[in-house]
Order: sequence, then C-alpha cells, then structure tokens
Amino acid sequence: MENKITTLFNIKYPLIQAGMVWNSGWRLASAVSNVGGLGLIGAGSMYPEVLREHIQKCKKVTNKPFGVNVPMLYPNIEEIMKIIVDEGVKIVFTSAGNPKTWTPFLKENGITVVHVVSSVKFALKSQEAGVDAVVAEGFEAGGHNGREETTTFTLIPMVKEAVTIPVIAAGGIATGRGMLAAMVLGAEGVQIGSRFVASNESSAHINFKEEVVKTKDGDTHLTLKELAPVRLIKNKFYSELQDLYQQKPTVEQLKEKLGRARAKKGMFEGDLENGELEIGQIAGLIHEIKPAAEIVQEIIEEYNSIKKSFC
Ligand SMILES: Cc1cc2nc3c(=O)[nH]c(=O)nc-3n(C[C@H](O)[C@H](O)[C@H](O)COP(=O)(O)O)c2cc1C
Repeated sequence: MENKITTLFNIKYPLIQAGMVWNSGWRLASAVSNVGGLGLIGAGSMYPEVLREHIQKCKKVTNKPFGVNVPMLYPNIEEIMKIIVDEGVKIVFTSAGNPKTWTPFLKENGITVVHVVSSVKFALKSQEAGVDAVVAEGFEAGGHNGREETTTFTLIPMVKEAVTIPVIAAGGIATGRGMLAAMVLGAEGVQIGSRFVASNESSAHINFKEEVVKTKDGDTHLTLKELAPVRLIKNKFYSELQDLYQQKPTVEQLKEKLGRARAKKGMFEGDLENGELEIGQIAGLIHEIKPAAEIVQEIIEEYNSIKKSFC
C-alpha cells in the first residue's frame, strides 16, 4: 500500500487515527501506530505537562511513528509546541486556526506538518504556509467542523483539484469501503475519528462508547455555529440548546449555556444527559466496541478485498 502518505510518515497503511479531545491518549495512538497506521495524541484536552507524559508513555510502548494533534483554539499553545519539540515529536497535525501561525516554527524544527481544513480556500492557504499535506474534513465528521457544510464526497475532489500536496480525507469514513471511496475521489490517506472512539483503547468513558454504538443516522447535528461549530449527539443538553435558539440568543448567552468543561463531562465523565457528546454521522455504522488494532486490520482487509473485486 505504498503511496505518498505512507512514505511521508514512514507507515505501513495510509490510515490515520484522528486526534480527538478526551479520546486519544497514548494508549490509542500507540495501538494504532503499532499495527501500521499513524496514531495521533490529541493535545486539545491536555494541560502541557499531561501532554508531555502522554508523549513519553507513547515512546515507551511503540518504536513506530506517531504524532500529536494540536487544535489551535485552545490555550497554552506556546508551551505545547515547546514540549512537542523538546520531546522530539516528528509529526504534528494542526487544526482550528491559521496554518501560517505555527507551520514555519514546526518546519524549522524538522517536524512534518499537516493542517486540517474544511474548504478549498484553507487548503490553498495551508499549502502556501508550507505544510506537507492537508486533511480535508467534510461536514459529516465528529467534533469541531467547518461552517460551510461541505460534505466529504464533494470536498475531497475539489481540494485535490486545487492543491499539489497530498490530501488526506476525513469525515464519515469507518470502513474499508469508505476508505476506498475516499481514495477513488483523490485522497491518498484517510483520517478516522468516530470509529476509534468506540475502541477499547480510547480514553472516553464507557457510557459514551456505548452511546456511540447505539447512535443511528439522524441522531447527530452540527450546532453552535456562532461559537465553534460542533457535531453532537442529540441529548438533553442539545435539546436545551435548541430551546435556547428559539429565543434568538446572543453569543454571550450561548457561551453561558455551554459553560466550561461540557465535553469533558460528556465524553470523559460519561454524563450522557448534561455533557457534550461529539461524534460523526458515521456513528450509525459503528456497532461494536473493539480493540483499535482489530479496527485497523478490518478496515485494511475490507479495503483490499473490495478494491480487488473492482479490478
Ligand atoms: C470525539 C471527537 C473529538 C475530536 N476532537 C478533535 C480535536 O481535538 N482536534 C481535531 O483536529 N479534530 C478533532 N475531531 C475531529 C477528528 O480529528 C476527525 O477529523 C474526525 O473525527 C473525522 O471524521 P469521523 O468522525 O467521521 O471519522 C474530533 C472528533 C471526535 C469524534
């Protein structure tokens, strides 16, 4: 399966486990890297020293490449970037911010940089900033998302047409079939988030993992566009939010309703009613919690067998 993405990261399969707040610590990242994909530690929910610990633990249990995802909307970015360099991390995926802010610094330190985008405009901006690849993330994806509502099926070929650097597809991919579809559309790798939430190694609370398995099509919605758009399971907190929308709230009122640590409450502490439950539309296709290595192997086997059936 050698291509530009496997060569760029020195991995066996062009399959990346997404950085995900409250889900992707060293256990998940190392499990995916050890089986031949690229595991990412999600720095978004970690204090700088916690991130350092996760990087050090990851280095102890894998000698394969792994990376760190840094969403630029959270505080302590300077400290986080310093730790990444100090600890010798070789791959960084940045998201939710301007690719021009940190790419030069990371490149100067010999780091491979990938930026996550939801539009052609930002893909071009990332290329101009000097990143090595882009993740083009469609509207179906779990977590924070673009306001444009461009789906993965339309975004991938448009980004592919616009840039010369490799494109990694994200949003709605959980199977080998999905991976193959993304590659046919022009991607050279896939970034998968939601599927790995329901893995043994995800650090999410078991309540949340089990809720993901129960989630059906139509059970999620992209909301809070006035703050940072995020796709959530329609639970009690979501319903209260929709009630508030009926009253045409100000941004301040929305911020107040969201409060602090909602995502932690939902995904890490397992409060399914009052927490924020971030997951993608593809949750409807996730029926079982299983080891991350099995997830990767199943996806790759299905990818190869479906591909063969078309040849
Ligand atoms: C629970 C959850 C948390 C996420 N947190 C982050 C994050 O911290 N940083 C980021 O760049 N993307 C985040 N995302 C988006 C993923 O990195 C990835 O692009 C997305 O999940 C891909 O779509 P999929 O969920 O359909 O596989 C998150 C997604 C989920 C489901």
